[in-house]
Amino acid sequence: MPERVFPDDFLWGVATSAHQIEGAFGEDGRGESIWDRLEATPGSIEDGSDASVACDHYHRYEDDVELMKKLGINAYRFSIAWPRVLPKGRGRVNAAGLDFYDNLVDALLEAGIEPFVTLYHWDLPQALQDRGGWSERDTAEAFVHYTTAVARRLGDRVRHWATHNEPWCIATLGHESGEHAPGHRDPAEALRVAHHVLLSHGQAMGALREFAPEAEAGIVLNLSPSWPASESPADREAARRFDGFFNRWYLNPIFRGVYPADTIADRVRCGHLKGPELPFVRSGDMEAISVPLDFLGLNYYSRTVVRAGDGGDPTGICAVSEEKLTDMGWEVYPEGLYDTLVRLKTEYAPERIYVTENGAAYPDGPDRAGRVADRRRVEYLRSHLKEAHRALADGVPLLGYFVWSLLDNFEWAHGYTKRFGLYWVDYDSQKRIPKDSAFWYRDVVAANAVDDES
Ligand code: FCB
Repeated sequence: MPERVFPDDFLWGVATSAHQIEGAFGEDGRGESIWDRLEATPGSIEDGSDASVACDHYHRYEDDVELMKKLGINAYRFSIAWPRVLPKGRGRVNAAGLDFYDNLVDALLEAGIEPFVTLYHWDLPQALQDRGGWSERDTAEAFVHYTTAVARRLGDRVRHWATHNEPWCIATLGHESGEHAPGHRDPAEALRVAHHVLLSHGQAMGALREFAPEAEAGIVLNLSPSWPASESPADREAARRFDGFFNRWYLNPIFRGVYPADTIADRVRCGHLKGPELPFVRSGDMEAISVPLDFLGLNYYSRTVVRAGDGGDPTGICAVSEEKLTDMGWEVYPEGLYDTLVRLKTEYAPERIYVTENGAAYPDGPDRAGRVADRRRVEYLRSHLKEAHRALADGVPLLGYFVWSLLDNFEWAHGYTKRFGLYWVDYDSQKRIPKDSAFWYRDVVAANAVDDES
């Protein structure tokens, strides 16, 4: 079968985030984050665990860079913990916190691996939450201050910056469903939060331009194609609503400088907004949010099949049999990656796109011989890479791909119950064991191609 060859300069990477792997909560002056606080609240995390040790990456980062070298990757996406840099969210910069990332960046560059920095992957300093967190407009200003501190220190070496990871999750999971920190359940607040996060993105782009002028800068969105559960008008309408709420609420402000009118109307209808005026938008905000990007980061995991629920509200349903679901209960639907990439090119035309996360949770662990035969993860990754290649062949400006994740890690409200890593982690000994998928990915990277074999 033909090999699908990728462009010579394609970036092959893996992704992680600070809170999910670092541990070392109390060390070197790190402040408390909203996730530390949530984890200390009984009942918040599925297995009652916390991320205070996680993969102990803070102490083992050099070994982890060695693992990356073994994969042969040329890019690594990680995030900076705001509470390490500014323990109180603003004010005094904690030099020791920045030293850690400085050393990590040097170790990566030494290994020939391009650092891709994400500034905010959900770990807001608790001190800012105590003053209202992302509900307050001031937090956007604090984010610019934080971005400036990091870019001043790393801007001479880091050439790829993302402001935020997945604003939808910050707003909706954090402030509407309450599953994520800070655990609020207020849809009106979630809309305000989404706006302040987007605003902070636009404003921080200016700081990145100033302090990392040679670098490319953008944002990472999680997008999911919305499929009606049937051809009924009600289900099709529900799918439109879901798409507006999940995808276009972020894409349209960023690329067009406006929130989608149909979704505003939907929000008014369900009482989340009092009227079509968005009270949190001030003059100049939409221009700031739609400042040009160098790249869009796409996190893709699955599609969403939508049925009309109460009052026509979109309800996500499971449309496939158990064996087509990952351990997260997410459907394996690789064509959705192609569809999303092509939609981005056609409707929003970003200059460049990276798939900044793609991967699957499966529980497979070591057998008696110590081998982790995670065949389903290999299949998941292969099928998605084939779709990424198809999109490239159709002219999508896709420049790189990052597997989520390097290591099994702390999967937010699921604790340690979900394993996404190419490396299996024994959390007692902190031993890392390469899964079959790690060897398979190494071969893909070496060949710069993905084959059809199954
Ligand atoms: C994404 C997050 C990432 C990880 C994966 C499974 O939404 O960005 O931190 O939890 O899902």
